[in-house]
Amino acid sequence: MIRSVNFQRPQNRFVTHLQTSDLRKHYVMGTSVVRALDGVSMTVEQGEFLGLLGTSGSGKSTLLNLLGGLDHATSGTLRIFDQDLAKMSRAELSMHRRKNVGIIFQSFNLISTMTATDNVALSMMFAGIPRAEREREASRLLESMGLGGRQKHRPKELSGGEQQRVAISRALANKPALLLADEPTGNLDSKTSKEIMDLLKALNERDGKTIILVTHDAALAHKYSHRIITLMDGTVVSDAKAADAQA
Ligand SMILES: Nc1ncnc2c1ncn2[C@@H]1O[C@H](COP(=O)(O)OP(=O)(O)O)[C@@H](O)[C@H]1O
Ligand SMILES: [Mg+2]
Repeated sequence: MIRSVNFQRPQNRFVTHLQTSDLRKHYVMGTSVVRALDGVSMTVEQGEFLGLLGTSGSGKSTLLNLLGGLDHATSGTLRIFDQDLAKMSRAELSMHRRKNVGIIFQSFNLISTMTATDNVALSMMFAGIPRAEREREASRLLESMGLGGRQKHRPKELSGGEQQRVAISRALANKPALLLADEPTGNLDSKTSKEIMDLLKALNERDGKTIILVTHDAALAHKYSHRIITLMDGTVVSDAKAADAQA
């Protein structure tokens, strides 16, 4: 059996979840260099809901991809708890990606030929969990997302909101402490967007997940985040408490 993580949000002290220092990601394109990230220093506390704002091309996805171990930085440091991602090999990065983070994308990125259950169960395969247990846990997660009756459906037989809830179930499968969401409601109508955002809020408040929400929607970021970091041309131009932050 997979045991659930009984994480308690620290009451009186902050625990740093991740920290970047002078983080850069440069892409060499022929004779020119795209400075997608150009010296980002930031800290995120455990249990925080951080909004990452910025116009298109400001470097939001690049930063999220580095945090998620999908790519290596050009320079700078990136620590998640006590691990330095800059020093990791590709294999170690992919282990980090499977164990420590769950990533949710705008376009859901589900495998179209697989059922909802199999999409979720697949991500547990690498953790060496036996098949029957993977399927049981996938069912439990889908049910907790209100998808009890949709387990054998393939992505094209699901609405956008349902597909995103499958993707969230998949992101939660290995019980990561950190959830990264890249424009998770970008393809959804406003009612469904609110449902998905409320789910993320519950995962933050009830389960203590640290959440980094990438969006270009300032109102959405202010409504759900505790703090907002704004990027422009690959650098941080502001880092402030969200206008609507309750705590
Ligand atoms: N793989 C890549 N190769 C070259 N340039 C890239 C690549 N990925 C992103 N970029 C460039 O880096 C900049 C930041 O992109 P991105 O992080 O996707 O921005 P955002 O998510 O804020 O819209 C953009 O100018 C983009 O064109
Ligand atoms: Mg992007």
